Amino acid sequence: MKLSSIAPLAIALTATAQASYINYTTVTGYFLQDEASTDASTFDYTTTNFGLINRTYPSDNPDNDNNLLTQWERFHHHITTLNHLSPPTISYKVLFLGRHGEGYHNAAESYYGTPAWNCYYSLLTGNSTTTWSDADLTPSGIQQAQIAHSFWSHQIASQRIHTPDSYFVSPLLRALRTANITFSDLPLQPSSSSPFTPVIKEFFRESVTLHTCDHRHNATYIHSLFPEWTFEKGFREEDGMWDGVRAESNGAQDVRSKVALDEVFAGDDDDDDGVGMFVSVTSHSGEIASLLRVIGHREFGLRTGAVLPVLVRGEIVGDALEPTGTGTRWETSAHCTAPPVTSVSSGCVCASSAVPVTTPLVTFAG
Ligand SMILES: *[C@@H]1O[C@H](CO)[C@@H](O)[C@H](O)[C@H]1NC(C)=O
Ligand SMILES: *[C@@H]1O[C@H](CO)[C@@H](O)[C@H](O)[C@H]1NC(C)=O
Ligand SMILES: *[C@@H]1O[C@H](CO)[C@@H](O)[C@H](O)[C@H]1NC(C)=O
Ligand SMILES: *[C@@H]1O[C@H](CO)[C@@H](O)[C@H](O)[C@H]1NC(C)=O
Ligand SMILES: *[C@@H]1O[C@H](CO)[C@@H](O)[C@H](O)[C@H]1NC(C)=O
Repeated sequence: MKLSSIAPLAIALTATAQASYINYTTVTGYFLQDEASTDASTFDYTTTNFGLINRTYPSDNPDNDNNLLTQWERFHHHITTLNHLSPPTISYKVLFLGRHGEGYHNAAESYYGTPAWNCYYSLLTGNSTTTWSDADLTPSGIQQAQIAHSFWSHQIASQRIHTPDSYFVSPLLRALRTANITFSDLPLQPSSSSPFTPVIKEFFRESVTLHTCDHRHNATYIHSLFPEWTFEKGFREEDGMWDGVRAESNGAQDVRSKVALDEVFAGDDDDDDGVGMFVSVTSHSGEIASLLRVIGHREFGLRTGAVLPVLVRGEIVGDALEPTGTGTRWETSAHCTAPPVTSVSSGCVCASSAVPVTTPLVTFAG
C-alpha cells in the first residue's frame, strides 16, 4: 500500500510529540480478543482468522466488495478510511503483538517450579545442561514460531492479508529468533518491508527483572546474528537496563512502553517510508501485558508463540500532562544463595545456611 496519505499525519505527530501527550485507546468491535466473552486461555489465533470478527463495515462497497474481497481486505480498507476521515491529530494503527516461542527459561521455570525459579534458579545463567541467560528458543519454541510462519503464509494466500508495513522486535534473543522464523521467506507485501529487516527496539523488551533471561546480549553479538537488521537510533552496545539487583515495576515499565509506542506512532523508526498502519511487534508476555495496559485493552494473556492483533487509536491531546511519579520505582527483592529446600505454591524456602540476599549471584563482564 502507498502510505503517502498517512505520511503527513506522521509528520504532524513528530512535530508535536515532544510537547504534547498521545492518548491511546483500544477500538473494540473488530476482534474477538477485545470481547469480554472471549477466554484468553483457550483462544487460538490460528483457528479464528487472528480473531477478526465477520462483519460489515460502513466503508464496504456493497456492489462488489462483499463477494470479491476478504474480511481482512475490507478491514484494511476500513481502517485506511478511518485514517482518511480523521483529523491530523488522530491516527489508527493495527498492532500485531507477537509473543516469542518457548525459551529455555520457560522450560526451566516449569522444571524447577515457579517459586524456586524466582528465588534462586532464575538468577543463575543456566545449569550444566542448558543456558537461560538471554534464553534461546527450545525446539518447541522453534515449532511455535514455525506455526506463526505457516499461519501468516496461509493468511497471505487465503485472506490476501496486508502484511505489516513495519516490524519491530525486542532485542532479546528469543524474540529475535521468533521474528526471524516467523517472517523470513514470506511474500511480504509492501516492497519496503521485503526482505524482512525489522527494527530492534530496546523498549519492546521484556519486563526487566533480576532474572538473567532478561539480560540481553551486546549489540555486536546481535548484529553478528542478524547483520541486515536495523537497530533503532541510540541503541546501546551494552545492556544498560539489567543489573541483576533491581526489577522495574509495572508503572516504570508502562512509562517506557508508552515511549516506544509514541515513537511508533510518531513514525520515528529510522525509515524514510514511515511506519505505516499495520505494525508488527515481536515481544514478550510481560511487555505485551504492559502495552495492553497503555492502550486500555483488557488483560489478555498470550501463550508462547501466539499473535494478537489490536486496533489502536492514538490522539494527540494538547497540553495534557504525562502521568508520572507514582509506582515507577525499581525494586530489589531477596533471593536464596543456594538451591532452596522447598518450592511450594506459598513460596520458596531458602536452606538454613543460605541467607536471602539482594546482590546478584552472577556477574557479567562489561
Ligand atoms: C483519553 O481517551 C479516553 C477515551 O477516549 C478518554 O476517556 C480520556 O479522557 C482521554 N484522556 C485524555 C488525557 O484526554
Ligand atoms: C466467517 O466467515 C467465513 C467464511 O467467509 C467462515 O468460514 C467462518 O466460519 C466465519 N467465522 C465465524 C466466526 O462466523
Ligand atoms: C537443567 O534444566 C533443564 C530445564 O530447562 C532440565 O531439563 C535439566 O534436567 C536440568 N539439568 C540438570 C543437570 O539439572
Ligand atoms: C559481545 O558479546 C559476545 C557474546 O556474549 C562476547 O563474546 C563479546 O566479547 C562481546 N563483545 C564486546 C565488544 O563486548
Ligand atoms: C533466520 O531464519 C532463516 C530462515 O528460517 C534461517 O536460515 C537463519 O538461520 C535464521 N538466522 C538466525 C540467526 O537464527
